[in-house]
Amino acid sequence: MPLDAVHEVEGRLRAAGVPSPRVDAEILVADVLGLARSELYSSVRLVTAFEADQLDELVGRRLRREPLAYILGEWGFRRLLLKVDDRALIPRPETEIVVERCLELLGGLAEPRVLDVGVGSGAIALAIADEHEGAQVVAVDSSEQALSLARENKARAGVNGRVRLVRGDLLSEVEGPFDLVVSNPPYVSPEEYETLQPEIRLYEPYEAVVGIDVGAKVAADARALLVPGGRLVLECGDGQAAGLAEALRSLGYAQVVETPDLAGRDRVVEGRWNGA
Ligand SMILES: C[S@@+](CC[C@H](N)C(=O)[O-])C[C@H]1O[C@@H](n2cnc3c(N)ncnc32)[C@H](O)[C@@H]1O
Repeated sequence: MPLDAVHEVEGRLRAAGVPSPRVDAEILVADVLGLARSELYSSVRLVTAFEADQLDELVGRRLRREPLAYILGEWGFRRLLLKVDDRALIPRPETEIVVERCLELLGGLAEPRVLDVGVGSGAIALAIADEHEGAQVVAVDSSEQALSLARENKARAGVNGRVRLVRGDLLSEVEGPFDLVVSNPPYVSPEEYETLQPEIRLYEPYEAVVGIDVGAKVAADARALLVPGGRLVLECGDGQAAGLAEALRSLGYAQVVETPDLAGRDRVVEGRWNGA
């Protein structure tokens, strides 16, 4: 029965020290059996030998610490179900707050021009286009791998005409003007990287995770591309928001605001560019 399978998988994950073994077991069993997680508790159907083999394969991957999102191949972000694999970073919950801030700041504009720097899977760019029907988004990444995944997600999201994907180093290949520049840049230091969980170190692209002062560099370069009154929204690491906010102020941004994530830690910094 499904619940027996959950107990068995949970035990294997727990014994191997995999974090959140119960939740992961439920999600993996539900995925293989085509059930909602809540149905695992009521279903009395048999697990076929084929399903048991499939489950064993997925559990093996999780035991090797492959992230759950890569194993499932899809991950929810805002209203979108994005394809995810090791070509790009898995979209994180705090990045949904970045999108929230962008949509709030774009609220009054009918056809805002938006630049997303470091598009990865496409999460931010596609969610903005999906939730603001007039938004015209240019999205840049230096990784061809990430761009190929973003291209697939763009087709899935059905926002084809309104999102343009560009390969380039930060803002070097794009021309403004933009009403909003947004970025979730790599912001983990090389030293901190060594302390991160194996799910990140073994599977997610290094260049998507590790970077120093990239947000401040985006902020500096964005000044040449923003319209007067244009907005900048940046995600940053835990403990970095105050320093980044200070950098924005010294670059000439006004109305600099920090927004916390769901755990109450400031992770998003925004500012208004009033012109040179
Ligand atoms: C933290 S990931 C963010 C991905 C996605 N926007 C998200 O929020 O899930 C950072 C992205 O920036 C890209 N990147 C890193 N350095 C870059 C650079 N110099 N120019 C353009 N993109 C860069 C990486 O390839 C990666 O896709």
